[in-house]
Amino acid sequence: MDWGMKNRMSRLIQPDGKCFFLPIDHGYFQGPTSCLEKPGETIKPLLRYCDALFVTRGVVRSAIDPAIKKPIILRVSGGTSMVGKNLANEVITTAIDDVIRINATAVGISIFVGSDYEKQTLNNLTSLVNECEKYGIPVMAVTAVGKELEKRGARYLALACRIAAELGAKVVKTYWCADDFEKVTNGCPVPVVMAGGPKCETDKEVLEFVHDGMQKGAIGVNLGRNVWQNPNALPMMRALHAIIHKNASVGEAFDLFNSIKNEKL
Ligand code: 5RP
Repeated sequence: MDWGMKNRMSRLIQPDGKCFFLPIDHGYFQGPTSCLEKPGETIKPLLRYCDALFVTRGVVRSAIDPAIKKPIILRVSGGTSMVGKNLANEVITTAIDDVIRINATAVGISIFVGSDYEKQTLNNLTSLVNECEKYGIPVMAVTAVGKELEKRGARYLALACRIAAELGAKVVKTYWCADDFEKVTNGCPVPVVMAGGPKCETDKEVLEFVHDGMQKGAIGVNLGRNVWQNPNALPMMRALHAIIHKNASVGEAFDLFNSIKNEKL
C-alpha cells in the first residue's frame, strides 16, 4: 500500500485495530429518515465517540462543519429511492475530483449481489476502485440487500463480502447474522464492519449483536438507526464505544448505558 492509502486507512481504523463509523447517509434513498431530518443536529452529541462519518456530499456541504476533525467516508452510490422500482439499480453519483475536493478519507458504495443489478453494481465497485487507487483513497463496499432483508444469512453474506474484497474493496460493510457469522469474517480477506439494519426491539439486543460480531471477527460497526433512533442515543453510542474500543462485555456496556441514561434524568 502506498503511504497515502495507509495514512487514510489509519485514520479510519484506530490503533487498537477497531472502528466505529457513524452512518447518516440514509436520506440518499429514504428521504428525511426519522431522527435524521436535521443530520447536523443529530450527530452533534455523538460525533466525539465515532471514528468516522458515512455521509453523502449533499449532507456534507449543507450540514457538516468543514472544521470537523473526524474523517469523512463519502457515500458515492445512489440514484434510486424507496418508492422507485428497484433499489439495486444504483450508479456512481460522485466524481473522483469531488471526492478529493471534499477531502474524503474514504468512499463507500453499495453492491447488490444476486440482484438483477449484480453486474452493474459490481462494475460500479470496480470502476470506483480503479479511480480511487490512483489517489490512495480506500473504498468501503456495502453489501446491500435492498428490501429483501431475509437474504441476510451467513452463506449469502460470505459470498457478497468475498466478492467485494476480491474486486478491491479495502473494507467491507455487511450485516451481522445470528448463525455462523465467523464464516463471513473468516472468508473475507479485508476487515469487516457491521451495519445495524432497522432498529432492534430492545437496547440490550443491539449490544448483544455487536459484541457477538466483534467476538466473531468483525473489527467494528457502521451503525446508524440503532444509535440515533434510540431515545437515549448518547448512552447507546457510549455503550457501543465501550464494546468496540474497551473490550466491554454486554453486561458492562448495558450498565454503562443505564448509568449514563439515568444521569440525564
Ligand atoms: C444505508 C447504509 C447505512 O450506512 C447502513 O445501512 C448502516 O446504517 P444502519 O445501521 O441504520 O443500517 O448503507 O444506505
